[in-house]
Amino acid sequence: MEKLKIAGGYPLKGTVRISGAKNSAVALIPATILADSPVTIDGLPDISDVQILKALLEEIGGKVEFANNEMTVDPSSMISMPLPNGKVKKLRASYYLMGAMLGRFKKAVIGLPGGCYLGPRPIDQHIKGFEALGAKVTNEQGAIYLRADELKGARIYLDVVSVGATINIMLAAVRAKGRTIIENAAKEPEIIDVATLLTNMGAKIKGAGTDVIRIDGVDHLHGCRHTIIPDRIEAGTYLILGAAVGDGILIDNVIPNHLESLIAKLREMGVEIESGDDQVFVAPAQKLKAVDIKTLVYPGFPTDLQQPFTSLLTKAEGTSVVTDTIYSARFKHIDELRRMNANIKVEGRSAIVNGPVRLQGAKVKASDLRAGAALVIAGLMAEGITEITGIEHIDRGYSHLVEKLNGLGATVWREDLSQEEKEQMENA
Ligand code: EPU
Repeated sequence: MEKLKIAGGYPLKGTVRISGAKNSAVALIPATILADSPVTIDGLPDISDVQILKALLEEIGGKVEFANNEMTVDPSSMISMPLPNGKVKKLRASYYLMGAMLGRFKKAVIGLPGGCYLGPRPIDQHIKGFEALGAKVTNEQGAIYLRADELKGARIYLDVVSVGATINIMLAAVRAKGRTIIENAAKEPEIIDVATLLTNMGAKIKGAGTDVIRIDGVDHLHGCRHTIIPDRIEAGTYLILGAAVGDGILIDNVIPNHLESLIAKLREMGVEIESGDDQVFVAPAQKLKAVDIKTLVYPGFPTDLQQPFTSLLTKAEGTSVVTDTIYSARFKHIDELRRMNANIKVEGRSAIVNGPVRLQGAKVKASDLRAGAALVIAGLMAEGITEITGIEHIDRGYSHLVEKLNGLGATVWREDLSQEEKEQMENA
């Protein structure tokens, strides 16, 4: 087990290249199960979630090669092996194995997913979708059992706009008989990316990226090659970093349209940003103005950037209100930011940030992935040394973080935890 140490308070400058999107990768990899010949995905990020999914595909008999960010999955000898425990509990996105295995084998046993705790994260809309397609779904001792004689297309209205449910239903429906219509679907770019892969595999999908998706089921899907989209949340994290401590940062390999809500908010704060075709430049920011943000489904302000953005707001002049309408408990970073001298209080689903303050280095703990990103940004802003434990959360979603930050001139390094720290982490 390691911790991250940051010597903060220095301006960063240069170019950072964004990796492939985590939240696409974790759906694209299970989607390969649906093919009958090898699928290659390139541009995958080097993150632990990708490694875990690779191991899960191997557990069910897939032959997987992964090198230089390119993964080839030969799914031809996969079997519907139950995956009730173990690695499935390590990440939230293991729920995509349900849709993909149900689509291919008409049965699956998958342990309830793990992932970051951000408040209750039910999967009732996924299950509603599978049942509408004709599956019998039961929950037995912490695992979801799915079985169908055949899957039949259906009209499914999502009661909650859900990225996971939209993708999961799409994965099963591409192999159902007849037409499926998903209404009130989520519109995130990752959904379009998964639909593009499935279409290249031979699926018939229309409307991905809008709130009505039509899928005509097909009898089989074949192998293909697919390039993943860049990670808009990783890019957003570096944009925020650029506004917080940048002396001119160029973010390369991005789709600027995916970041419109963040760029608009940064401009409102007084940050100068120039967008190109696949690059965004953040100019050194002088005085920052307080702004309010409210997280919403895409294309609104992403909940995944709420925590990193809060670190930046500590530097802004005035009072900012951050409201998370997607998750009820995505505020675990606030106590840690307070340790670093931030003036923030949480009231219900909002955090009220008073600034500007000069953050001070401290020993803090990342409770989840984006809380970790918030603390990294805070550590780079702070005077002195910050030590972050719980970095396994950060490793789930940020590829080559230390190398990328040091490439911008930061002083960030990993160190082994002391025996005492290990015991504290184990007892927490
Ligand atoms: N919801 C339900 N029922 C469901 C599904 C969702 O009530 O069946 C609720 C959730 O509790 C939440 C809201 O609907 O309040 C949105 O959840 P959604 O299903 O869209 O989230 P998710 O698919 O579980 C993905 C990302 C998250 C990101 C959200 C929102 C993956 C693996 N995860 O989660 O990413 O926050 O969409 O954009 O794609 C992260 O990257 O740090 C992360 C948490």
